[in-house]
Amino acid sequence: MTDSPKPPKHKPWSDIDLNRWRDYEEIKTDSLWLYSNRASGDGHKLDYHGNFIPQIATQIFSRYSRKNDIVLDLFLGSGTSAIEAARLERRCIGVELKPELADYVRAKIDPELLNRRIHVVQGNSANPEIVPRVSGILRQMQADHAHLLMLHPPYADIIKFSDRPEDLSNAPDAGSFLDGFETVARHGFELLAPGRFAALVIGDKYANGELLPLGFWCMERMNRVGFKTKAIIVKNIEGNEKGKGRTANLWRYRALAGGYYIFKHEYVIVFFKPK
Ligand SMILES: C[S@@+](CC[C@H](N)C(=O)[O-])C[C@H]1O[C@@H](n2cnc3c(N)ncnc32)[C@H](O)[C@@H]1O
Repeated sequence: MTDSPKPPKHKPWSDIDLNRWRDYEEIKTDSLWLYSNRASGDGHKLDYHGNFIPQIATQIFSRYSRKNDIVLDLFLGSGTSAIEAARLERRCIGVELKPELADYVRAKIDPELLNRRIHVVQGNSANPEIVPRVSGILRQMQADHAHLLMLHPPYADIIKFSDRPEDLSNAPDAGSFLDGFETVARHGFELLAPGRFAALVIGDKYANGELLPLGFWCMERMNRVGFKTKAIIVKNIEGNEKGKGRTANLWRYRALAGGYYIFKHEYVIVFFKPK
């Protein structure tokens, strides 16, 4: 007589069957993520300076959402979250400030999914009007709330994404950047279902010889709006590296001369919204 298989055991926010926990070798549970390259194919490409590697979305979506769940990304950029949501059979609402980029992402999405399972909204995530706009789309999708929140803001002014004043990369100083980020985080908090998760992808910066820990400051702003911190993951930035050779040597010289370290990591910080 063979044992009858156990019924799946999973959390309400995940499809991982805890009875088969040994079978999920590809799912990370350690807080140090080292990737030697960026995943490509399935619609993913390095077509936008400042996009995150698809593996971040793969890991976070696989652990913290279920099939057909709605992922809300309030800094959609070139659409990595939207493409990965489609691939993993999640739904997605993404908000991006730049109209030409929003159009570009729409063109990358399978027309069968666009405006049904995948929605690309052009707008300012720091403007309060984004909450009723996204809520309206959630209602069309027969949902009250999103099930997972992704936030990958500009790392202050490290990369300037546009000339628009509402663009967080144009905030005049770190304090204004953090205030703008906190407003977006508050909108995300309102739109996310209680008991669900949020992931913030962010790196730090140097200014005037001083390290500005944007990652920890943004984490603290997330806590201010009500999110509880679940994990701080350190991820290498090897997969996005472009400068090699002479430029790398120049940075090494500057680091030695200035007494600082060259950033080789960024953070993926995981939060939950209490029930
Ligand atoms: C770091 S990138 C996100 C990249 C994205 N994760 C990807 O993989 O392509 C940040 C994006 O936020 C957008 N952005 C900046 N300020 C914004 C705002 N107030 N509302 C919405 N989007 C904004 C920028 O135009 C930029 O595309």
